[in-house]
Amino acid sequence: MNVRDQNLLERRAHALGPNVRLFYDEPVHLVRGAGTWVYDDRGRKFLDCYNNVPHVGHCHPHVVEAICKQAGTLNTHTRYLHAGILDYVERLTAKHHPGITTAIMVCTGSEANDLALRMAEASSGHRGFIATNHTYHGNTVAVSQLSVTSPPPGGFAGHIRHVPAPDSYRPTHADFAAGFAAHVEDACKSLVQSGHGVAGMILCPFFVNEGFPELPKGSLDEAARIVRAHGGVIIGDEVQPGFGRIGSHMWGYERIGLVPEIVTMGKSMGNGHPVAAVATSLALMSTFRNAFKYFNTFGGNPVSCAAANAVLDVLETEELQSKALATGSHLMTGLRKLAERYHVIGDVRGSGLAIGVEVVSDRTQRTPDKKTTDAIVNDLRQNGVLAGSNGINYNVLKIRPPLQFGLAEADHLLDVLGHVLART
Ligand SMILES: Cc1ncc(COP(=O)(O)O)c(C=O)c1O
Repeated sequence: MNVRDQNLLERRAHALGPNVRLFYDEPVHLVRGAGTWVYDDRGRKFLDCYNNVPHVGHCHPHVVEAICKQAGTLNTHTRYLHAGILDYVERLTAKHHPGITTAIMVCTGSEANDLALRMAEASSGHRGFIATNHTYHGNTVAVSQLSVTSPPPGGFAGHIRHVPAPDSYRPTHADFAAGFAAHVEDACKSLVQSGHGVAGMILCPFFVNEGFPELPKGSLDEAARIVRAHGGVIIGDEVQPGFGRIGSHMWGYERIGLVPEIVTMGKSMGNGHPVAAVATSLALMSTFRNAFKYFNTFGGNPVSCAAANAVLDVLETEELQSKALATGSHLMTGLRKLAERYHVIGDVRGSGLAIGVEVVSDRTQRTPDKKTTDAIVNDLRQNGVLAGSNGINYNVLKIRPPLQFGLAEADHLLDVLGHVLART
């Protein structure tokens, strides 16, 4: 590491405090990005196979221009009439199932999920929630209760039940749908018995943080039915899979066949500008709005709406959803070819540009190998390719690039990964 980066690390430790995670054994000092490439302070370029926030490409000129133009015209909040938020909410909700017609715009996925929980409480009159045991939905006091991976200081409150996260590679039940539904039923009963009742179940419908398990359409139907039978609603957290990333569909919930009452979105929505949303039916929104006087100073400001509108422009004009599908399937074919040669690859799965590569030490036993996964991620970084890892056992190579990622970039990734695997 050079002296300048060492100095930044020291300043970081003082200014930001300890335990603020950086990626890679040798951190990357980025100064510029364009499309699917990012550049460090020494002008070295890296292929970005990891970042889902710059959804339509780093610093996409159309989005940058829209932000600059609106910032130079007016930026206020939702206490004044402005067409920007209406244009966006109408356009956004039209992309969802017919039950979704209204939205609240906020600044982060955590806020969106926090509000979704409050909406579910308002609609059901209950407090209890169900989430998987390997999820992450954000960092507010309420939302951090959902996360087993970083337990809240002071422990869990009594109104959350965690059910096992799906694992299609090492299935715990012969029939996933029935097994998952049985866990959800137990959780509902327990919430009723403890007096909390069932307000809802929150899920990422593509289970991105859980490692992209491959689940057939309809797999969550029975679990959703049980939650609704107890008076709860389904919250689809589309912060990661949404906006066409999975290629086959605009939203993760469409792929699995779920029809959530509440949908939350963030990350990719503003291409890096902090904008997020929670969307639902007019009836549910009215219940919430009448129960809480909600105002968000920055949520839905004209600049954020201009950014979010511009992202939809690019998604549509550059047909990025279908591009993600085509590139993703080319990439998965290439990854499966690598799996024929390199037995550390136990499984390749995903859809569009949300792809997981399961790294194992023993393919027959399907033994997760986190150490090798970390080594591969670091070696890729040393060779100019940025990727990450996730999954229940932290052994799934996470490939989730900006959607401008095309066939040439896919081939470059396959080439570098092939060299890395040959050394592993
Ligand atoms: C599925 C999911 N939901 C919500 C969030 C929280 O979003 P934010 O970091 O914008 O608060 C994350 C963040 O990683 C996430 O992965």
